[in-house]
Amino acid sequence: MAEINALTAASAEEVEQIRIKYLSKKGAIPAMMNDFRSVPAEQKREVGQKLNELKTLANERLAALRDTLASQAEAAQADIDLTRTATPLPLGTRHPLSLVKNEIFRIFGSMGFTIAEGPEIEDDWHVFSSLNFPPDHPARDMQDTFFISRSPQDILLRTHTSSVQTRTMETQKPPIRIICPGRVYRNEAISARAHCFFHQVEGLYIDRNVSFADLKQCLLYFAREMFGPDTRIRLRPSYFPFTEPSAEMDISCHICGGKGCPFCKGTGWVEILGCGMVDPNVLEACGIDSKEYTGYAFGMGIERITNLKYRVKDLRMFSENDVRFLHQFDAAH
Ligand code: PHE
Repeated sequence: MAEINALTAASAEEVEQIRIKYLSKKGAIPAMMNDFRSVPAEQKREVGQKLNELKTLANERLAALRDTLASQAEAAQADIDLTRTATPLPLGTRHPLSLVKNEIFRIFGSMGFTIAEGPEIEDDWHVFSSLNFPPDHPARDMQDTFFISRSPQDILLRTHTSSVQTRTMETQKPPIRIICPGRVYRNEAISARAHCFFHQVEGLYIDRNVSFADLKQCLLYFAREMFGPDTRIRLRPSYFPFTEPSAEMDISCHICGGKGCPFCKGTGWVEILGCGMVDPNVLEACGIDSKEYTGYAFGMGIERITNLKYRVKDLRMFSENDVRFLHQFDAAH
């Protein structure tokens, strides 16, 4: 029996030879069966059983050997073809918004700003109240803000990342020098020029003796790094509840160089961000002594900067994930 269990075969011919040797008419097992007549009567039962077992075992062993050979043949067919050309793996490119965001990080990073982040689902205090929004300010309207719940308190999707500035001022002591990147939400109908979500980077610098001149110099440096060394800036008076004085900043149109073209609607200037000196009410609301400290803040939409830099005309392209669009932006930028 051990002899049968130890049988191996490397080919179908060898399996056949084993069959002939043990199981064919002239094979070893039928020969033993033929000798059965000469077995003394009292041993017939025991020997008969053994012979049957032996025959079953030999048949099983042959079947097993055939199975092994068949699966080996199958594996050989599926074997790797080393001569085949490799399947090309398409390389991804960075999203244009990420490219611009990283560039913004680099520029402000070189001026000592660190990155602060916060939640997209916020409460009224961090998005509006602490930032000096009066209770009836239109930004709090359902038309502008996505509310998640309105009682017992207002929970909403942040409409700007100024909320991260509030959170930082509440927990850190000046000097504070941060930029706050992130996604923000506004209840707008989606079109080429507006979306219900977009990305911002806001900045905040608070220390003793921070002045409007510091703000202007910081933003001039940013504009020249981002849009080229010939870029000029201009600040127009504006209004935000959380800054006083407030301004909007334009850069000289980098397409016509400021001469006036359809892109800048003939003005030579394009608006890129809002800014101002942090309102003392905001500092006090966040536990910072407004007699000791002053600060500036600014905020920009990453989509807006990207549109200007790459001349993308339709905001929706950024979230459609069309690879024909995305592949136009080189990862090396
Ligand atoms: N939070 C403003 C916005 O979302 C941008 C801003 C930030 C303006 C800081 C002034 C100062 O539009």
